[in-house]
Amino acid sequence: MLPSAGMSNGYLRKDSSERKFGLVHRDKLRKGGRSSKDLRHGHGAKVPGQGNPRINGCTEYDAAYFQSYSHVGIHEEMIKDRVRTETYRSAIFQYQSAIEGKVVVDVGCGTGILSIFCALAGAKRVYAVDASEIAIQANEVVKANNLSDKIIVLLGRVEDVDIDEEVDVIISEWMGYMLLYESMLSSVITARDRWLKPGGLILPSHATLYMAPITHSDRYNESIEFWRNVYGIDMSAMVPLAKQCAFEEPSVETIIGENVLTWPFVVKHVDCYTVTIVELETITAKYKFVSMMQAPLHGFAFWFDVEFAGPANMPNDNHSPSSLGEGSTSLLGDSTTVSSDACANGSNQRRKRAKSMETLVLSTAPEDEPTHWQQTLLYFYEPVDVKQDQVIEGSLTLSQSKENPRFLNIHLEYTSGGRSFVKESVMR
Ligand SMILES: C[S@@+](CC[C@H](N)C(=O)[O-])C[C@H]1O[C@@H](n2cnc3c(N)ncnc32)[C@H](O)[C@@H]1O
Repeated sequence: MLPSAGMSNGYLRKDSSERKFGLVHRDKLRKGGRSSKDLRHGHGAKVPGQGNPRINGCTEYDAAYFQSYSHVGIHEEMIKDRVRTETYRSAIFQYQSAIEGKVVVDVGCGTGILSIFCALAGAKRVYAVDASEIAIQANEVVKANNLSDKIIVLLGRVEDVDIDEEVDVIISEWMGYMLLYESMLSSVITARDRWLKPGGLILPSHATLYMAPITHSDRYNESIEFWRNVYGIDMSAMVPLAKQCAFEEPSVETIIGENVLTWPFVVKHVDCYTVTIVELETITAKYKFVSMMQAPLHGFAFWFDVEFAGPANMPNDNHSPSSLGEGSTSLLGDSTTVSSDACANGSNQRRKRAKSMETLVLSTAPEDEPTHWQQTLLYFYEPVDVKQDQVIEGSLTLSQSKENPRFLNIHLEYTSGGRSFVKESVMR
């Protein structure tokens, strides 16, 4: 947290190029990429590592991004996230009547799991598109499950591949940390604008990014206070560097409801049927919280949820199989979601969205079952004591980094108890 008066806090800045290719989430980026190919008949399919032609028009950053998804570990982590995967499966079967006999495109198919769910739900044809070489493995999985007549795996960017028909359904798991990190939603928008029939279905349909002030003394003590007495030695000289290293950049970790000081604020609500690529380049929101307790304020937490609602007038079947069990999903009406209007208006009221009780929601909120996204924490360098009912207000700007649009620049302005601060950070 830097004083807004422009005073330096004296901490060292790391060279940003040091982590040029490093994704802090899901996996590390690696260089690489391939041209687009229909893998149905194995034409030109090569195992990873045997040749690496560049994807047309792909930046060095994107090539590294797609290469990061060729690693099995990242897919294992996502698939093992039962909250994520089972909610998607539930959504597919909830909309089975909209999928049966229809054409689907899976934007970023990875190992092909969502494409296969769609085929099992009765899709006539599924275009499974991925620019990472993981698509080669997806093709093998499709073949092994005797689904090659239904699923066409395309190795290439959604922006580049050709699909010679309109599609009825778009499915994609595009959400990054803090929702927008990774900037993959723009590829879903591209797919929508290229191929989706009017009135077609997008799963998920809506997304909401939330923020809330948090207190987290354990984390602060573990990383900072620890240095004050190390085996009886005063190592407080380490404290400035420890603060720099621990709190300069956003941190992905799991918190619980007790860490949150008050109801969350909606930073951005996205309607996937109408959102534009330009709209996502910069997002600014003014927030205002009233602390519900006296506590040291350590920073802000961010999380998101996505909803699986059809376009207006599209019924869902609401007969999803056992996948709705095991507490893996969060249905609206369980009071885990917040009305965007209520929050955007600065109200502290926690209200349910005025949507159907049947709307399926994948939530990454601290009070819900943890997911591999966890929550994203933006810590202050120094905690600030707040009293009950104290107002915490300011503004937040999230913008795609010019250096690499998949990175997120975060500009946070904050005022409380008459003191103002600015914190700049980059999620890279
Ligand atoms: C989060 S993973 C999801 C994988 C899979 N759908 C699943 O649910 O397990 C996103 C995938 O999208 C791919 N991807 C991202 N942007 C893409 C684009 N513009 N064109 C094609 N594939 C893309 C990545 O390579 C990655 O495999």
